[in-house]
Amino acid sequence: MTIQKWAMAAAAATLAGFAGWAQAAELNIYSARKEELIRPLLEKFSKKTGIGVNVVTADDDVLIQRLKAEGRNTPADILIMADAGRLVRAAQADLFQPVKSSILNKNIPAQLRQADGLWFGLTIRARVIAYSPERVKPGTLSSYENLADPQWKGRICSRSSGNVYNQSLTASMIANDGAEKTDAWLKGMVANFARPPQGGDRDQIKDIAAGKCDVALVNTYYIGGMMQSKDPAERDAVAKVAIFWPNQADRGAHINVSGAGVIKNAKHRKEAIRLLEYMVTDQSQEWYAEANSEFPIREDVPKSKILAGWGEFKADALPISALGELNSQAVMAMDKAGWR
Ligand SMILES: [Fe+2]
Repeated sequence: MTIQKWAMAAAAATLAGFAGWAQAAELNIYSARKEELIRPLLEKFSKKTGIGVNVVTADDDVLIQRLKAEGRNTPADILIMADAGRLVRAAQADLFQPVKSSILNKNIPAQLRQADGLWFGLTIRARVIAYSPERVKPGTLSSYENLADPQWKGRICSRSSGNVYNQSLTASMIANDGAEKTDAWLKGMVANFARPPQGGDRDQIKDIAAGKCDVALVNTYYIGGMMQSKDPAERDAVAKVAIFWPNQADRGAHINVSGAGVIKNAKHRKEAIRLLEYMVTDQSQEWYAEANSEFPIREDVPKSKILAGWGEFKADALPISALGELNSQAVMAMDKAGWR
């Protein structure tokens, strides 16, 4: 496990290091988001409020396990996660405390936060169909359900079922279509795979570009990330795919959030809430969403140029807490269908 720790201190606590963790006007964050995606935002927060911020970054499940092990003794005040499924998992492990904030409730749609204030969505991503415009007529695409149609036999690239993004999508299918229809959908999808599931979302895009398959499910920010990549191979690959917004004629595209909650035994509860409120301000939202090519949680905040270029889309209105609540059912259904 690699955990990086960096400390910023607005006040004189700079040299206090770990000893500073117990002091007032400090905030300790466990983050599953990469450091570069949050650091500038936290620096601005520190400058503005005088609250020093310490961050530990690691994978979602590593942080959840660590918080469970640390229990009441944890120094953590806030947990930031990159998926609703993980936020729900943390809430089920009783890691969060309820937060009542009119600022958060006003700025974050009810669909995108936990009803008791255990966690709050802070940025939005959609899971869309990436396709080869050379080999796929967009008129033949329509919905997630349609990907089970035999016309896609041998044409779909997919990452494994072990990844939470496909689990969350499957959970949304169960919520919208029911368990039986979802079983049939999974079976049909898996039968259409071009190769055994492998790689991350970026690899599915690269394989479409390389002609190994024609369509794949990917999160929007990977497309934005590849468009702005320093690696010319990534820019070339993504230039060969187009995005299709699924289910626009019915419920809308599947969306998910990155988000955060205040830790149950947080020693800096007030500062923690202040940071969450800071993260939904206009400026923070614009920067935070743009840093990872995500959509702001607030509709009134402008999207980045790249995202605006993709046009408007209809999003599934399903409360995203359902994605976590149906996670284990989704995992079992994927396993039963042979999605490795
Ligand atoms: Fe991701």
